[in-house]
Order: sequence, then structure tokens, then C-alpha cells
Amino acid sequence: MILAILLSVLAFLAVVPVHAHTGIIVPLYSYPETNATWEPLGTAIGAFPDVQFYVIVNPNSGPGLTDTNYQAAVAALHTYANVLLVGYVLTGYGTRPLDQVQQDIETYAAWPAATGLAGIFFDETLAGLTQTYTAYTDAARNATWPGRTTAYVILNPGEDIGDSDYYTFANQIVTFEDTYARYQTQAPLLPHPAQQSVIMNSFNGTNETLESVVQTFETSRLASAYITDLDVDIYKGFGSHWAEFVQDVNRKRF
Ligand SMILES: *[C@@H]1O[C@H](CO)[C@@H](O)[C@H](O)[C@H]1NC(C)=O
Ligand SMILES: *[C@@H]1O[C@H](CO)[C@@H](O)[C@H](O)[C@H]1NC(C)=O
Ligand SMILES: *[C@@H]1O[C@H](CO)[C@@H](O)[C@H](O)[C@H]1NC(C)=O
Ligand SMILES: *[C@@H]1O[C@H](CO)[C@@H](O)[C@H](O)[C@H]1NC(C)=O
Repeated sequence: MILAILLSVLAFLAVVPVHAHTGIIVPLYSYPETNATWEPLGTAIGAFPDVQFYVIVNPNSGPGLTDTNYQAAVAALHTYANVLLVGYVLTGYGTRPLDQVQQDIETYAAWPAATGLAGIFFDETLAGLTQTYTAYTDAARNATWPGRTTAYVILNPGEDIGDSDYYTFANQIVTFEDTYARYQTQAPLLPHPAQQSVIMNSFNGTNETLESVVQTFETSRLASAYITDLDVDIYKGFGSHWAEFVQDVNRKRF
């Protein structure tokens, strides 16, 4: 009985966020052509050790083929303590067969320990498919992660999923992935802020506006956020507001 209670407490603790402040989630979908490609990220992680970064690595809409150049660049990010690295996996809105999803997960889990991969980012998540997404996330948790005792799991429906039971088996859920214009007309609802993430593109406000958006996130204790002013190839670079955004997140912690 006591053991059962203890186990359920541990199961709950396994999905609570690793950081109480708003962190930065980074869809790192560019290829590290040279060391300079990811340098703005490495510099930010190194400059702000109190900010937790969640970095989604994505060699080829999934793990792709073994690429030691790519893995070396990931390992360079892993030298910082304030970064949690997860691998990008497609789920086809729940249509992708479990064995294919599992294959991608196991490929990531088998990356060299130096890359520090700690879990999975499940893209194309569809709400209302509890059984399917429980199986996908169980596959991630069943794998052995060099960077962690159990997988860190992020789901990306990119839109509101209300009070979905997905929050019981995901560490974070991206419930807004859209433009700043959309954000202005329809700010994301935050039923579980400590497990929610907001990813915003095409930001065209001033530095002051950026700061106030970050303040809003901090005040609601959002788990993580990403804001870029890029409006084409939005995840192929960091955009011109990157440094300001990172400074704001660091400054707004309370
Ligand atoms: C690029 O980064 C790797 C890993 O940190 C390092 O070993 C290598 O020397 C760097 N190359 C250049 C040209 O700076
Ligand atoms: C995960 O492991 C559990 C316990 O061993 C097993 O019952 C389940 O089928 C596994 N799920 C997947 C998707 O691998
Ligand atoms: C920002 O972009 C939106 C949507 O494209 C546009 O309507 C608005 O005028 C732009 N604002 C500025 C300050 O450029
Ligand atoms: C916005 O912030 C960035 C980074 O701190 C700075 O380089 C830029 O000059 C600022 N822009 C304005 C209009 O103040």
C-alpha cells in the first residue's frame, strides 16, 4: 500500500517540469554546416546558466542516418548543464505505426552518450488519441537514455487541447505554434502552464513588446517559449530578436 502510494508519487514527479521558471524551447532544425551555424544558441546557453534550454534536435524530420558531424555539434551543446536535448519524431497525427515511431526513438537513444539526448519531441500530435500517444510515449520511456533515467517527453499539437489527459504522460505540451499576429488576436489558454510551451514566429513588434510578451509568460509560469521574427524558413536560423529574447527571459525570472 505504502509502496503503491510512493510509486504513484514518483510517477507524478516524473512528469513535473525540471525548472520552475519559463525556459527556452528551441526548434533546432538547421544543419550545423559550420560551427557558426549553432553558435548563437551555444553562446546564449553559455551566457545564461540560470535559464533552462530545451533543444529539439532534428537531423532529417527524424533521426536520419548516422551523421557524426551532426552528433559532434549536439555534443558541443551538451557540455552545458542548463540544456536538455530531445530528438524530433513525426507521429503523422497518430497515423504513424508504433514500430516506425519506436525505430526512430531507439535510433536517438543509441546516439553516443556525449550527445546527452534525454528524450523525444513528438511532432504532429493530434488530441483525443490517448491510447496511441500513450503507446508512443511509453516507447520513449522504455528506451534507455544516456542523459537521463527516463525519457523527457514533449508533445506538439501546436494548438489548444484544453484539459486533455495528455498532461498526465507528457512533461511539456506545445499548445501554440503560430504567428505573432495570431497570438495577438488569440492568446493561448493556459490550463496547465507549468507543462505548456508556446512557439511563436513572424514576431514584428518592438523590443518593448517582446519584453512584455516574455513578462506575460513568466507571470503565468509558462514552462517554455520560443519567439522568432523569421517568417520564412522560420526554424532555419534564430532571427534578429534572438539575443534580446534570451536576455528578456533571463531578466524576467523572479
Ligand atoms: C568545431 O567544434 C568542435 C566541437 O566543439 C571542435 O572540436 C572543433 O575544433 C571546432 N572547429 C572549429 C573550426 O572551430
Ligand atoms: C513498455 O514497457 C512495458 C513494460 O515492460 C510494456 O508493457 C510495454 O508494452 C512497452 N511499450 C512499448 C511501446 O514499448
Ligand atoms: C506585423 O505583421 C502583421 C501581420 O502581417 C501586420 O498586419 C502588421 O502591420 C505588422 N506590424 C508592423 C509594426 O509592421
Ligand atoms: C533591440 O534589442 C537589440 C538587442 O539588445 C538591440 O541590438 C537593438 O538595437 C534594439 N532595438 C531597438 C530599436 O532598440
